[in-house]
Amino acid sequence: RNPEKELLYDAYELSAKLYHFLLKNTQHGQDAVSYLRSRGFNDKIIEQFGIGFAPDRWDTMVQFLGKREFDLKEMEKGGLLSARQERDGYVDKFRNRIMFPIHDRNGRVIAFAGRILGEGQPKYLNSPESLLFNKSRTLYNLHQAKASIRKLRQIVLCEGYGDVIATWEAGYQNVVATMGTSLTEQQIAIMKSMAEEVIVSYDGDKAGLQAAMKVLPMLEGAGLRVRIALMGDGMDPDEYYRKYGLERYHHVMNSAVSSTKFKLIYLKKNHILLEEHGKIAYTKEALPIIAELSSSTEREVYLRELSTELHLSYESLKQDCNLLRQSMQ
Ligand code: UTP
Ligand code: MN
Ligand code: MN
Ligand code: MN
Ligand code: MN
Repeated sequence: RNPEKELLYDAYELSAKLYHFLLKNTQHGQDAVSYLRSRGFNDKIIEQFGIGFAPDRWDTMVQFLGKREFDLKEMEKGGLLSARQERDGYVDKFRNRIMFPIHDRNGRVIAFAGRILGEGQPKYLNSPESLLFNKSRTLYNLHQAKASIRKLRQIVLCEGYGDVIATWEAGYQNVVATMGTSLTEQQIAIMKSMAEEVIVSYDGDKAGLQAAMKVLPMLEGAGLRVRIALMGDGMDPDEYYRKYGLERYHHVMNSAVSSTKFKLIYLKKNHILLEEHGKIAYTKEALPIIAELSSSTEREVYLRELSTELHLSYESLKQDCNLLRQSMQ
């Protein structure tokens, strides 16, 4: 056991409890509660995810940790406090923010994400990496999701905190998030050790779609099956669930598409299919994706869809696809 680490675990645990207490039991905490309510987060969710509030003061944590005889320099190294700019001493790192505790897979608090109430920059202030927190090995909510993941052999992968919370509320307890950064090999290894299939449920905006395109080969390369849940209208899972409700959310999750289908949909967005050159350009990009499928049944399925969609004969598409396959060998 590493005593420095144990102290930091204690400090994070106590801080999470304090932030949660302050959310529920102070005047300013009520502003945070109102904000959370306005986003549809109920009390049960606030409890389940241990959500808290960091007051708009410089010394809440300095006082709290100091009184409990934590070494403030260690707390600064551990990411709970910031060093003062102009003189000695420390100030709170998180001020006037909604606090989302981040746990390791055993359920110990190892970091925080602090969200501003409303608009402003940065939207989320995150704990730095520390003795406890290695961002590239962490998946948000894994401690609560792992039982369900192991049982279903499936993971729902989101980008953000709100998305995990909405997805959980919609009944998917196998949901985790990468917390904005790109998916790492370590995170994939963790997923691979627990599941066979990943439902990628990223934001429906351009950045989210692009990120999904990027993670597909990574996940498939690790031998995971992948499907993609498509949130419409550029919305993220949280926005989609709040706007359209449970039933439509379930529908989107149940209709998660194969990675081939997703790639085709993604490519199609760049082309105007009413024009000949758009049609041809799209076909040129789509065929290699279909051609690389090893199952001829699968190839037929997508080629027939393409044929219907573009009003092209199945025969000519198949011929071009086979030529491509020959050149690929
Ligand atoms: P988004 O910008 O999509 O935010 O970033 P969001 O999750 O939808 O946030 P809300 O719904 O407005 O509260 C996705 C994720 O990227 C990370 C967070 O993990 C966030 O959930 N992120 C984003 C940061 O770490 N810092 C930021 O300033 C923004
Ligand atoms: Mn509580
Ligand atoms: Mn986003
Ligand atoms: Mn988002
Ligand atoms: Mn969001």
